[in-house]
Amino acid sequence: SLVILDFGSQFTRLIARRFRELGAYSVILPGTASLERIAQENPQGIVLSGGPSSVYDAGAPRPAPGVLELDVPMLGVCYGMQFLAHEAGGEVARAGKHEYGKADLTRYGGQLFRGIQGEFVAWMSHADSVTRLPEGYEVVAETADTPVAAIENPLTRRYGVQFHPEVVHTPKGGQLLANFLEICGVARDWTAEHIIDDLIGGVRAQVGDQGRVLLAISGGVDSSTLGLLLARAIGERLTAVFIDHGLLRLGEREQVEAALKPLGVNLVTVDARAEFMGALAGVSDPEEKRKIIGREFIRAFEREAREYGPFDFLAQGTLYPDVIESAGGGQGDKSGAANIKSHHNVGGLPDDLAFKLVEPFRTLFKDEVREIARLLGLPDHIRMRHPFPGPGLAIRCLGAISEEKLDILRRVDDIFISGLREFGLYDGCSQALAVLTPIQSVGVMGDGRTYSYTAALRAVTTDDFMTAEWARLPYEFLATMSNRIVNQVHEVNRVVYDITGKPPATIEWE
Ligand code: XMP
Repeated sequence: SLVILDFGSQFTRLIARRFRELGAYSVILPGTASLERIAQENPQGIVLSGGPSSVYDAGAPRPAPGVLELDVPMLGVCYGMQFLAHEAGGEVARAGKHEYGKADLTRYGGQLFRGIQGEFVAWMSHADSVTRLPEGYEVVAETADTPVAAIENPLTRRYGVQFHPEVVHTPKGGQLLANFLEICGVARDWTAEHIIDDLIGGVRAQVGDQGRVLLAISGGVDSSTLGLLLARAIGERLTAVFIDHGLLRLGEREQVEAALKPLGVNLVTVDARAEFMGALAGVSDPEEKRKIIGREFIRAFEREAREYGPFDFLAQGTLYPDVIESAGGGQGDKSGAANIKSHHNVGGLPDDLAFKLVEPFRTLFKDEVREIARLLGLPDHIRMRHPFPGPGLAIRCLGAISEEKLDILRRVDDIFISGLREFGLYDGCSQALAVLTPIQSVGVMGDGRTYSYTAALRAVTTDDFMTAEWARLPYEFLATMSNRIVNQVHEVNRVVYDITGKPPATIEWE
């Protein structure tokens, strides 16, 4: 395996992710992990991550005694490289320019870059630089501002890069990491099957053979996949609770039940529709709706926890991007995303429901969860589904909601989403939805005048949901959708397509 020693870089987990994409198994350990702990992993190579420190800081983190002497290849990234160079007798200084962002390597070579051709764009983020090389090392890459952008000592197999090969802004970084794997002789056979075994082993170790686990199922890919994984790991000691708040899409509850129950998930469906509808009656302010739904959700969830409990653990489908957010690294403002999950936050649960958290997906990215879901047998219509907000249709039915309006919206939404699937457009959108506006307008149908609702369709493409573009759906498709909707949903006589990006609009209308 490969051991990644973490010195606090926000990118450390990306290093692990890149290695995983290359099919290599790696573990992240604290930068100061003991020699014994590292030896347990039988490391064939070690990566020293970047970090916020300078090698001259008092208390700058350093590997435990003996680690640097291990006879395996080592790759230092950013701080890791400075550390290697400094330890070997080189000099590091806050010299030259800060380099932040993309830089072209003006030359590169050596073992790390073997086989790489053409332009090499490297993502830099550093203040310190290596200013004098230690014995036995040579410079193998440079940029205009950083004369020592990569170093290596082929004899001791010590390597260092000042840039970040693990980020997407270093497009050929994957090849460099693959070269390091080859230098280490690490096998590239780490697959999703292995990951599943590993996760199951981890859950069993954490939960023990008595522990009982509670999980809230939202119907999305993360919690559904987690349900499947936990069912494999601990069987009936998992209770998965799916709260039907009456704000779901057409047939959603049945789909979730049909997907999970046959695969052994101990699923409890709770019909809380009346409570939610009662609490939301007459409420039109979007944030107020969210608050009420959050509160009702916790209330219903607590009740079920008591009913089926006691539980020792609460499982959550937290993904790595959520972890980066909550670490509050200051990079990328994801506070909105953190916020929107507030009603799933266990912080709101009372003391007698104090669970320990089980979060097996904390190191995974969405696409990895989808791959695991495939292997665990989650049907594609759930596995590849667009995100759906916790407050559900309540924030797509503008203003005060009613059963009648939700029913209209459900039918419009179903025509649109089914249409996207039918025309092969669904996977090309990141999220698609229908909105029922409170606008009523005049229309004409048959021989009669109508005065009915306006429905809006929205589809967006985005990488991170923080910004988005409206999807350029074909006119013919939109025409077909419009026809189907007004023909099948008589309460709607006008269909509009939202052509606003985010910003200035948001994806949801409320
Ligand atoms: P906006 O509308 O803010 O949406 O552009 C960005 C993403 O977040 C989802 N969203 C929510 N998810 N609870 C959720 O769980 C919410 O209250 C909420 N509001 C928005 C939205 O569907 C989109 O994917």
